[in-house]
Amino acid sequence: MPLVPLPELLNHARANGYALGYFESWDSYSFEAVLAAAQAEQAPVIVGFGATMLADPWLDHRGIPFLGAMGRALVADCATPVAFLLNETHTLEQAQRGIDCGFTAVMIDSHRWPVAQAQEAVAALVRTAHPAGVAVEAEFGSLPDYIGESIVDAHAYMTDPAQARDFVQATDVDCLAVAVGNVHLLTSGTATIDLARLQAISDAVDVPLAIHGGTGFPPEDVAAAIAAGVAKFNVGTRLKKVFLEAVLANTGTWTGRESVHDLVGSHKESDFLEAGKSAVVSVVRDLIRLYGGQGRASSIGASNE
Ligand code: 13P
Repeated sequence: MPLVPLPELLNHARANGYALGYFESWDSYSFEAVLAAAQAEQAPVIVGFGATMLADPWLDHRGIPFLGAMGRALVADCATPVAFLLNETHTLEQAQRGIDCGFTAVMIDSHRWPVAQAQEAVAALVRTAHPAGVAVEAEFGSLPDYIGESIVDAHAYMTDPAQARDFVQATDVDCLAVAVGNVHLLTSGTATIDLARLQAISDAVDVPLAIHGGTGFPPEDVAAAIAAGVAKFNVGTRLKKVFLEAVLANTGTWTGRESVHDLVGSHKESDFLEAGKSAVVSVVRDLIRLYGGQGRASSIGASNE
């Protein structure tokens, strides 16, 4: 199996001057698209599912075991190294369940919680995750969201380097997501990044840094961000957007006479969802190259898991 611990992938990226993409999936088509893109680029990749947009009753019932089992089945014969992340759960319990359900990295969406509460929950998660060989990411600082065509930043705050260092020391997390001007869900224009703050955080903490809000991150700042310690970019919104656009473009050709079985879920060329998948493959390949991950797979040792 090609699973490689997330810290190993992130440290390899940092040591070699590139970053990994975490390309967030929502179903088997998007997940297979990310794997296909990584294999086409011979790149290591972080695959996984985000909990933020998912309903708690579904997640708390069979959602997490279902996503874990599906992801593990799909990565089994992937030819490039992967880490498998359950991203941004609403609760500590959901992230802990992810550990038992096959994810190799977990994260709680605690950036809006009071710092003491977040620190306690993340430290508790680390205490369960590390003995199981699972990595933990946490966010310190809080990103604004882009909602309804405006940036909503009432609760957002930038990451303070000294506080970030204390948070990392107190929790023992493997990767720290930071707020340096990046915006979640930004589909119009790009964010303004405080690269000096990013460097100061990187100087203060000794774990790889992650940037959430990859959709609106300015491409021209990627190299500088990597040089300042970023080893992971999270991309979500852009993938769903291109998927939906491609599916809609294809459903427009439906006359009502074709077999619905060919068009929906057949995995044949006629499947509308395959058009969405192809669009995601193309964007993920572009982003892997932007982050410098192409051709890196062969220099990473895969585990025998
Ligand atoms: P975007 O949807 O803005 O790309 O952000 C994704 C993300 O940060 C997931 O954690």
